[in-house]
Amino acid sequence: MAAAPGRRRPAVLLWAAVCLATALAVDRSNFKTCEQSGFCRRQRGLQPGHSPYRALLESLQLGPDAARLQLVNEVTKVPLLLELWGLQGNVTRIRIKELNPLRPRFEVPDVLVAEPPVERLAVTGRDEGSLELSLGPAGHRLLVTEKPFRMDLLQGRELLCSVNARGLLFFEHLRQRRDSDTPREPTAEEGGAAEGQEETTGGTEDAGTQSEKPTEATAEAAEEPGSWEETFKTHTDTKPNGPTSVGLDFSLPGFEHVYGIPEHADSLRLRTTEGGDPYRLYNLDVFQYELYNPMALYGSVPLLLAHSARRTLGIFWLNAAETWVDISSNTAGKTLFGKLLDYMQGGGETPQTDVRWMSESGIVDVFLLLGPTPAAVAGQYAALTGTQALPPLFALGYHQSRWNYNDEEDVAAVERGFEEHAVPCDVLWLDIEHADGKRYFTWDPSKFPRPRDMLQRLAAKKRKMVSIVDPHIKVDSGYRVHNELRSRGFYVKTKDGSDYEGWCWPGSAAYPDFTNPEMRAWWASMFAYDQYEGSTENLFTWNDMNEPSVFSGPEVTMHKDAVHHGGWEHRDLHNLYGLYVQMATAEGQIQRSGGQHRPFVLSRAFFAGSQRYGAVWTGDNAAEWEHLKISIPMCLSFGLAGLSFCGSDVGGFFKNPEAELLVRWYQAGAFQPFFRAHAHLDTARREPWLFGEENVALIRAAIRQRYALLPFWYTAFYRSHRHGLPVMRPLWMEYPEDATTFAIDDQYMIDRALLVHPVTEQGARGVQVYLPGKGEVWYDVASLQKHHAPQTLYVPVTMSSVPVFQRGGTVVPRQERVRRSTECMRGDPFTLYVALSPQGTAEGDLFLDDGQSFDYETKARYLHRQFTFAGNTLTASSADPRGSFDTPAWLERVVILGAGKPAAVVLRPADGSETRLDFQHEAETSVLTLRKPGVRIGDDWAIVLR
Ligand code: NOJ
Repeated sequence: MAAAPGRRRPAVLLWAAVCLATALAVDRSNFKTCEQSGFCRRQRGLQPGHSPYRALLESLQLGPDAARLQLVNEVTKVPLLLELWGLQGNVTRIRIKELNPLRPRFEVPDVLVAEPPVERLAVTGRDEGSLELSLGPAGHRLLVTEKPFRMDLLQGRELLCSVNARGLLFFEHLRQRRDSDTPREPTAEEGGAAEGQEETTGGTEDAGTQSEKPTEATAEAAEEPGSWEETFKTHTDTKPNGPTSVGLDFSLPGFEHVYGIPEHADSLRLRTTEGGDPYRLYNLDVFQYELYNPMALYGSVPLLLAHSARRTLGIFWLNAAETWVDISSNTAGKTLFGKLLDYMQGGGETPQTDVRWMSESGIVDVFLLLGPTPAAVAGQYAALTGTQALPPLFALGYHQSRWNYNDEEDVAAVERGFEEHAVPCDVLWLDIEHADGKRYFTWDPSKFPRPRDMLQRLAAKKRKMVSIVDPHIKVDSGYRVHNELRSRGFYVKTKDGSDYEGWCWPGSAAYPDFTNPEMRAWWASMFAYDQYEGSTENLFTWNDMNEPSVFSGPEVTMHKDAVHHGGWEHRDLHNLYGLYVQMATAEGQIQRSGGQHRPFVLSRAFFAGSQRYGAVWTGDNAAEWEHLKISIPMCLSFGLAGLSFCGSDVGGFFKNPEAELLVRWYQAGAFQPFFRAHAHLDTARREPWLFGEENVALIRAAIRQRYALLPFWYTAFYRSHRHGLPVMRPLWMEYPEDATTFAIDDQYMIDRALLVHPVTEQGARGVQVYLPGKGEVWYDVASLQKHHAPQTLYVPVTMSSVPVFQRGGTVVPRQERVRRSTECMRGDPFTLYVALSPQGTAEGDLFLDDGQSFDYETKARYLHRQFTFAGNTLTASSADPRGSFDTPAWLERVVILGAGKPAAVVLRPADGSETRLDFQHEAETSVLTLRKPGVRIGDDWAIVLR
């Protein structure tokens, strides 16, 4: 689909034309396989067991923070520098770079939030072939073996992870191009050899010469065509720096389950990649993506988690270049029965997963997050890359989008529709057609002549709007944004130094260099109310196409030899571009409010750390049941990688959903963190009321459920913001020892209290729900009926059912007077759902602030309340006495699930008085409802059941 340079226009037309096609299937020929990606092919050519690397143990230097020693490739003699850190909080950092690079190699900036504090290292053992380092107080030790170089990380006597155990360390050192490297077809005798021949002759007996299989050195020396220039379809990637890739393997004994490395449209649990392509991390605009494969998608987070019943571990590979991840396992293909038989016969090997990372450039910089619990790994990752930004409350409400709402009248009519049908909605969205000829920061003068009035009308109803601002800028000398970017030299450059241009929505477009901090500051300033004309306080932003998408570029993205600030090639930092776009936009929103208000920015592309800037979604899905289903594992993977604020286009972007699918999607979306309906330009209109009375009632009910639970969602986001735990999380994060949960990805937890199993099957009559937790109980949120765990429960469903269960032992706050938007519900009374454990206890919390400013942070203006039920008494106290916030909100009801009938219920406010409360007890369900306690939600009080 990508067009030849110079013949670009047809490409965009073709793109648009294909949009209309009905059959949904990605055109795989547009995207590289590993075989077609030179460095991936070269690295995969290196088989395990042939490492040419030796650790020069005598070169060890133990500084106050790090240990440094040299590695040498015994074939090429090129020395590398290995750096090791023990970081506080159970993290080990390993860096490998060239000791004497010809030029600097790219090291990823702006992703780590801080240089983590280090532990003191010590040498605790040494013999002629290895040395042992202790990595701090947690008892971690690192054994470094000289030859072939490998490292084994141990805790006590337990081996946690081995590095280069399979000998796949691969490091293409920077080199000068020689005349003989001029591209030409190699002869068969040369085997593609074009460089470094004499270097390979320096090999020692046992390295590089021991086998027919290529070692890294021979693979490197072979200099296949493609090392200094690579052509894919009609695009030639000139590679002025030649081959620069890095790779390394990690063995994880005891682990059979690995997760993470979004974004892929695949199951939550990653699969082995033997016999197929590795998982690819390369931010791409993949048109009509297919499900259950390892192809790259819009975003990348190079974080992989391994989990077993004994521990959780993470590998964070900090590299922003194109990356491929191979996964193999010694238990792959074995059936459960086979594994059981192995176990019974005592002959089974320990399960082990091996992970191999391969990146096109940069250095090896990897953090081993040693857990040992899932929550600890989440915390370790958050300490490195930051936590989820706390969204403004409105952003957790319902969002109505489509490509496009046509004009101001259309917006008004849609808004009226929500009023007339009593469907809550916080935000209306405007896609690319709202701007004047896709010139972002402008409005189409005939369709949106008075944007400020439109926004004010929405504000009067306490609603917001989001407009799209993409990072491709129309090349048009009459467009101020373009002129400024060009004159300030802020565009990405071609390798020849001119402004890089490609085709995107506006036609010919240039791409601001978001890696340049000055450019980002300028971009941020564009969101000032006097710069972005027609914008107001209730206008927020959507950054789309920021992989970046270049219709005319290789694999629909930017040429890798394009040049960024500081002279770095696009190749080095491709996966960071989208993060920077969202970062600069969020900063712009903060600045326009004088630093007062929290931003809301949705981004399609992302990288590690993007969680600090807003929300992400799963891009252009389709109105198909399988796409509804996969939204769950996709968002779970995002969450595991720190991105809590994730959603999928409700209803599916391409194609028209039938009413049943749409209703089920609303029901599922209402229980996913980012809840937005969106649809392609060519789809039929699908606002909730267009599907008949019955369906609008079902959709209304789903959205109302979302709004009733907003206090719970908001508190979960606050926790995620503070501690880095995902809001939407796999069951195994809460039940790490229960192996039954390890492969489940059709149900999940929200925070620690709710378990959700959306209906994702057409014509479903029921779903099988696994309720985990030995000796625990769960309450069906709809019927309030109690169920004992563990068990797999068959839950019959009708069209109105959304199987959700509250965990015994938790308290969930709700606001049940649902109104048109979140802002309208501020100050409304609360209801507490207290779900008793079998021991008759429960606890939960509530976070409350103004829902929009940074005052919770800068002025401690918030309430964090703790609710505890024990000894027949429900107590409200402060979970965090540092905060205070004035709110008129009061407690209107308490529903206690699993309670016996008391003789009396007494409220004891802080002043020591006692009041009897009205109550009602349902003997059949053991539900006790206390009416109108009437206390303020911010006060301390106790309610005693007698
Ligand atoms: C691609 C986005 O993924 C989609 O959501 C949007 O509607 C179109 N671009 C048009 O802006």
